[in-house]
Amino acid sequence: MQSLPALLDQRVRDVTGVDPEMRPATKPQFGHFQSNVALRLAKQEGRPPREVAAEIVERLDVADLCEPLEIAGPGFINFRIRAEVLARAVSALLEDPNDGLNRASHPQRVVIDYSAPNVAKQMHVGHLRTTIIGDCFNRVLTALGHTVIPQNHIGDWGTQFGMLIEEVLDEGLDAGSLTLAEADALYKRAASRFREDEEFARRARARVAVFQGGDEESLRIWQQLVDISKPAFNEAYERLHVLLTDDDLAGESTYNDDLPVLVSELESSGVAVVDDGALCVFVDGFDAPLIVRKSDGGYGYATTDLAAIRRRVGELDADRIIYVTDARQAGHFAQTFAAARKAGFLPDDVTAQHVGYGMVLGNDGKPFKTRDGSAATLSSLLDAAEEVAAPPIALAAIKYADLSSGLQKDYVFDVERMVQTTGNTGPYLQYAHARICQIMRKAEAEDIGYGAVVVLAEPAEQQLALLLSRFGEIVDEVATSLQPHKLCGYLYDLAGALATFYEQCPVLKSEGDVRSSRLALCAATRQVLATGLGLLGIEALERM
Ligand code: ARG
Repeated sequence: MQSLPALLDQRVRDVTGVDPEMRPATKPQFGHFQSNVALRLAKQEGRPPREVAAEIVERLDVADLCEPLEIAGPGFINFRIRAEVLARAVSALLEDPNDGLNRASHPQRVVIDYSAPNVAKQMHVGHLRTTIIGDCFNRVLTALGHTVIPQNHIGDWGTQFGMLIEEVLDEGLDAGSLTLAEADALYKRAASRFREDEEFARRARARVAVFQGGDEESLRIWQQLVDISKPAFNEAYERLHVLLTDDDLAGESTYNDDLPVLVSELESSGVAVVDDGALCVFVDGFDAPLIVRKSDGGYGYATTDLAAIRRRVGELDADRIIYVTDARQAGHFAQTFAAARKAGFLPDDVTAQHVGYGMVLGNDGKPFKTRDGSAATLSSLLDAAEEVAAPPIALAAIKYADLSSGLQKDYVFDVERMVQTTGNTGPYLQYAHARICQIMRKAEAEDIGYGAVVVLAEPAEQQLALLLSRFGEIVDEVATSLQPHKLCGYLYDLAGALATFYEQCPVLKSEGDVRSSRLALCAATRQVLATGLGLLGIEALERM
């Protein structure tokens, strides 16, 4: 469904040939929208603006949408959408089986690479962001009819296992009995020995080759570390109410067997060349080449990512691939995509996008730490929020804070502010929804029904209806631009328009058609709030 503002914009554009720059009217008596298009055209043509405005009004056929147009002041055109048109839009929304969402005209297969924590390490604040953002993309694209294929590219391979295995053997640990927190501590002990103990570092490096060469004992310990990590990841996903499951796991190790094949292909096609002992892909615009095989014969993060792209295109048949990681990996992905295109793994008709996000900061403006000064794990953040609010509200607070400002920006993890039910917060939107539910419950208890929306005479009703008609368009924009803050901002505006409506228009205390229309308006707003919050991964509570 095209929104009323968009429809009107298009009609004016068709007649004038330029962007009408429609603006919301500054006062209700000026209607709903105003355009200065006549003033701009008049200037170009050297003619009196009111004359140009009159001409446009003459040629513009919007009688089905608007009241007779008015020319104001020096030549502005004022548009007032007809009340019954607004009412029809609200009824259509209530009856729409897709809840006002536009099904994609060309459904795609979309791979979303998100979450991707690392084995034997606790999930940290960064993983909180990728998991929440990726989950939102998953929900939005799925709701529009795309086939979403989540890929959880967990760090389950790589050189860190050299030191981990060596440390497990040195300490004589049973890796299979560790909790993830204990494995994390083990990781830290191994890492610090690796830095400080020359002999240990040498053994750890040697262990990488032995392990990657298929040594049984090493692989057993590796498997144990993987096995204890996965349930802990799932526990975090459950706590976060995100859609990821074991079916979405495709860790780095998935691609092990592909790497030698892929690399020799790159070498024989000449896409990769040996430089200083390492096999490299040079891509324009980057100072350093992408190393696909190190001089010691090992493969790294980039090689695995190339292999993953090849499978996502070749086996998963992706039309679009989205990566959600911290903004610092932007260079890595730009270069990997370019190398993949050069190698022919990523055809031009497949889109690859990296969505980078900023850091989570504490109240002091520095990277978030827990109260005892330790690095913030994902669960410590959830704990902190749950100390001040019930779990579904705490979760709403966190997710909304994460999604509501531009993703690239750092944001301050200020639990006290985030859980408030006033201001631009998740709980405020939950509260707006719960309040409508309460009104609807009362109406039901008193046996008051609502039918088609017939009367929408008040400016506050009309503003609410106008906003409601824009929902589908806003969600489309999120799907394209991958900017969830647009949906957050929209829902926040909607909740604001709802508050004004309550203030100016009694619902249950009114009567007859007015009351039934207002209830219908409430029902439509409830539907949009619930659907919109759902797309953000936030639970629309019925009571608070
Ligand atoms: N495991 C990595 C990290 O924790 C993120 C992996 C992102 N995905 C990818 N295909 N490289 O930073």
